[in-house]
Amino acid sequence: MRPPILAFATGKGGTGKTSLTSNVAGLAAEYGYRVLAVDLDPQGNLGRDLGYYGDEARDDGGQALLEAMAFNRSLTPLTNVRPNLDVVVGGPHLDSAAALATSWERQGRVARRALAEALNPLVGGYHLVVLDCPPGERFLQESAMCAASHVVIPTRSDEASLDGLTRVADTFSIAREHNPDLQLLGVVLFGITATGTALVREVTAKIRASLGDVAPVLDTRIRYLEAPAVGARDRGLLVHEYERDLVRSAPRFWERRNADSQRLGGAGTANKLATDYAALTTELLATLFADRATPATVGGVG
Ligand SMILES: Nc1ncnc2c1ncn2[C@@H]1O[C@H](COP(=O)(O)OP(=O)(O)O)[C@@H](O)[C@H]1O
Ligand SMILES: [Mg+2]
Repeated sequence: MRPPILAFATGKGGTGKTSLTSNVAGLAAEYGYRVLAVDLDPQGNLGRDLGYYGDEARDDGGQALLEAMAFNRSLTPLTNVRPNLDVVVGGPHLDSAAALATSWERQGRVARRALAEALNPLVGGYHLVVLDCPPGERFLQESAMCAASHVVIPTRSDEASLDGLTRVADTFSIAREHNPDLQLLGVVLFGITATGTALVREVTAKIRASLGDVAPVLDTRIRYLEAPAVGARDRGLLVHEYERDLVRSAPRFWERRNADSQRLGGAGTANKLATDYAALTTELLATLFADRATPATVGGVG
């Protein structure tokens, strides 16, 4: 049976697609799911979060993925990026995809199906596939939505991000003509500053106004916690891994009286962000596997 293929997509950069892809994929892998993460962004930021960015032995800048799409070449993911987590690497080679698509169409291929066809032979080996979409690149976004079974749209609460929702809704409608089973799982609020519910209510109303009832706002929000987000990415770690490291290196309680509590404070905000990602991963897995049996080999879940 095909696993759920979850795409994080928006029409805008900086709304959390890569952070969500890496952290949800990494946590699901920790929970025992076999996960494949696919980086469709020419910027290749997924490799920063997972620590293989710029490592020549592992980071091919998206070359293998582009060649698989262009020549039907078989695709080998980067294996064991974490236990249970493999990655199809993205990067600058993907910049050529849109230009090549025209020639694929001339050859009689449906260009936006090329990604789905490249991934097809692989996906059966996983419980969950997660796609990190590029911000503006329309062809790759449409390709992702043709390959996906579910879409989650992350948004910040500012006007520009909310305007981006309409654009991604358009892409979704187009993709649905080619991939009629595609489901819009919902909108996730990312980098939310307000602790109160007023802002969330206001944003939810705006989302309803632009998307109608088709996309519910997910229960879990990712709070605005820039320091641990930046700290984790700088070190090539997922947020829960970064938190673990901070806790391990924090001063012991008897040393703490004199030490400045900077490092411990850092562990506190990392813990909050890690808690948000864990809750979101649990919410997404519950929805994705609600009408499926939990994969038999997944230990300790569901
Ligand atoms: N919880 C957070 N709070 C505030 N800023 C964050 C948070 N998580 C990530 N960021 C920052 O937001 C920026 C965009 O995140 P990213 O996941 O790369 O978005 P996208 O893939 O949509 O472009 C990054 O610079 C990152 O440091
Ligand atoms: Mg990104």
